[in-house]
Amino acid sequence: MEEAVKTERKKVILSGIQPTGVFTLGNYIGAIRNWDKMQDEYNCAYFVADLHSLTVRQDPAALRKQTLDAFALVLACGIDPEKSLVFIQSHVPSHAELNWILSCYAQFGELSRMTQFKDKSAKHADNVNAGLFTYPVLMAGDILLYQPDFVPVGADQKQHLEFTRDIVTRFNNLYGNVFRMPEAYIPKEGARVMSLQDPTKKMSKSDENVNAFVSILDEPNVIINKFKRAVTDSEKEICYREGKDGINNLMSIYSVVTGLTYEQIEKDFEGKGYGDFKLAVGEAVVEKLRPIRENFNRISKDKAYLEETYRKGAEMATGISERTLSKVKKKVGLLAK
Ligand code: TYM
Repeated sequence: MEEAVKTERKKVILSGIQPTGVFTLGNYIGAIRNWDKMQDEYNCAYFVADLHSLTVRQDPAALRKQTLDAFALVLACGIDPEKSLVFIQSHVPSHAELNWILSCYAQFGELSRMTQFKDKSAKHADNVNAGLFTYPVLMAGDILLYQPDFVPVGADQKQHLEFTRDIVTRFNNLYGNVFRMPEAYIPKEGARVMSLQDPTKKMSKSDENVNAFVSILDEPNVIINKFKRAVTDSEKEICYREGKDGINNLMSIYSVVTGLTYEQIEKDFEGKGYGDFKLAVGEAVVEKLRPIRENFNRISKDKAYLEETYRKGAEMATGISERTLSKVKKKVGLLAK
């Protein structure tokens, strides 16, 4: 029995993040904080999704810098390249290749229903390109190449994960057991961190109002000021209740960074004002992000280490992903060379 347990396959985790701008507190709380926790128990693969960023027009030099910074940030958040596979998406050609094959198995209708496509095409009405439309196919390929069991993401990626699962069912029904069925791992708390300026909207790094989001490299005084300015309501009570979107968001952030339950928070702040609470949330976030900022300052300076790490990552990721890709090619009828 013990032998059987020992030889059991370690579960595989995969996730990615776009390199457009410094990661926000939302990215950290909704996704990266869980990436870190999973490294000891699982076989993890994490990557910087630079190909995805091309769906919106980018300045080439800025994108190159942001990609390297994003890679350094992933490491600064605690992802250890000795334990996990870390790479940059465009360094691994299988992603773009599987994207093409899977796009022939994705339907126009289902892609048209993706809320992110609808939102982004409204926001970038002058550039509704084909990549924006087929973005979920590229993401499905990213995932399926590594045959993961779980994909840790925030709630906004749930629909893309469901689409990926539909592709798996469709493909496996046609060709046998090619892809493992992945499951979204969405945290109970913090899966959707909201804007500090409009708590009915998701916190996003592309928000025009910089007070709406906290970037994980913001200076302590900047973070505190953003929380001080956070939009709440005209009541006084600090409690988690429907309709109190601003306070609910702050409670959720505070709960994640301190580990306190809502009941404990409500008790601790009984009789205190919103001002006290906002300051406490800001200070707790500053402390949580402090080591990440320090790590980033150190790691991002070491260009040789970064290069060596992403090259190693690319090589390993290429090896793993090509196994799945060649199986797929064979199944769909492409002649081997
Ligand atoms: P991206 O770069 O928009 O976001 C990275 C991760 O952060 C989560 N997230 C949030 N979580 C909570 N609250 C928020 N306000 C918030 N904002 C962002 C996202 O859910 C995500 O988990 N398409 C993906 C990148 C990607 C990917 C993949 C992810 C490409 N291929 C394969 C997983 C597997 C994206 O644009 O994430």
